[in-house]
Amino acid sequence: MNVVRIVDDGGDGASFLEADGEVLPNGDINAFRHLTGVNVRSDDILVSAYPKSGSHWLMEIIHFLLAGSLEVNDLQKMATMIDSSPETSYRDLPSPRLLNTHLRLEQLPADVLKKKVKLICVLRNPMDVAVSYYNFLRVLAFTDYNGKWGNFFRPYFNGKFCYGSWFDHTRHWEEVKRDNPDHPILTLFYEDFKENPMREAIKLRHFLGVDRSDDFVKQICEYCDFKSMRKRKATTEMGKYSFRKGEVGDWKNWFTVAQKEWFDQLYQEKMADLPIKFRYTLND
Ligand code: A3P
Repeated sequence: MNVVRIVDDGGDGASFLEADGEVLPNGDINAFRHLTGVNVRSDDILVSAYPKSGSHWLMEIIHFLLAGSLEVNDLQKMATMIDSSPETSYRDLPSPRLLNTHLRLEQLPADVLKKKVKLICVLRNPMDVAVSYYNFLRVLAFTDYNGKWGNFFRPYFNGKFCYGSWFDHTRHWEEVKRDNPDHPILTLFYEDFKENPMREAIKLRHFLGVDRSDDFVKQICEYCDFKSMRKRKATTEMGKYSFRKGEVGDWKNWFTVAQKEWFDQLYQEKMADLPIKFRYTLND
């Protein structure tokens, strides 16, 4: 296993795995190495999100929309994460399989594009992502990270940690959308879901092409509400760590004025030419 220790601005380290220049979480590194050879079905549904963008939440909603019932087992998100789970853990799932990734398109099987696999891109404002990511690193035993926020956020936004830069990831997927206008891709924002989960879940219903009543969609939204989901998942390994606050705007409790100015300038440099706009509070 190729463990790397990534050091923040204060000299505190965080452990990850490294393969082919990519800094990865503690998963099955062979799954990553063999990913391009994985068999993809044309009716697979692939959720693409940078870590901590809310993919557990949205995938759970998609899972119940596809199932058409709440009386089924909860989704096993980690088993369907193709970056770090062996193909055997999702190979035999019935169609349509709901899979997820934090990687870039060129790291995935070529058939994702060729077979026009439905893609759902989940986005969240980068300041809340950074705060969520920081807190997540600090509770994961494998990373063994005890750094301070003030020493974390710069190397984080410069892409030193696991899955690299939020800017590069977001720009990459925006370019994929621009360059593949005929590919079925739905973009959803965490903040929009917080504002009006029903409205956003109906977009998902339409994109997935499933016939579910408004009443059922409402039931799903309630069942997958932050408190209810946190309680339901409390006993699972990831569930213990993946439901922290579930809010828009927690960044205000972390970023100093100077840190925010630094971030704003970096955002301008990296993203100003892209048409996408993020909401940093629900009033934006
Ligand atoms: P916070 O750390 O800000 O609370 P991911 O699922 O991509 O790892 O993202 C995790 C983030 O989504 C965490 O953010 C988590 O609390 C939040 N989240 C998880 N389930 C949620 C839900 N049902 N409603 C709102 N936010 C949720």
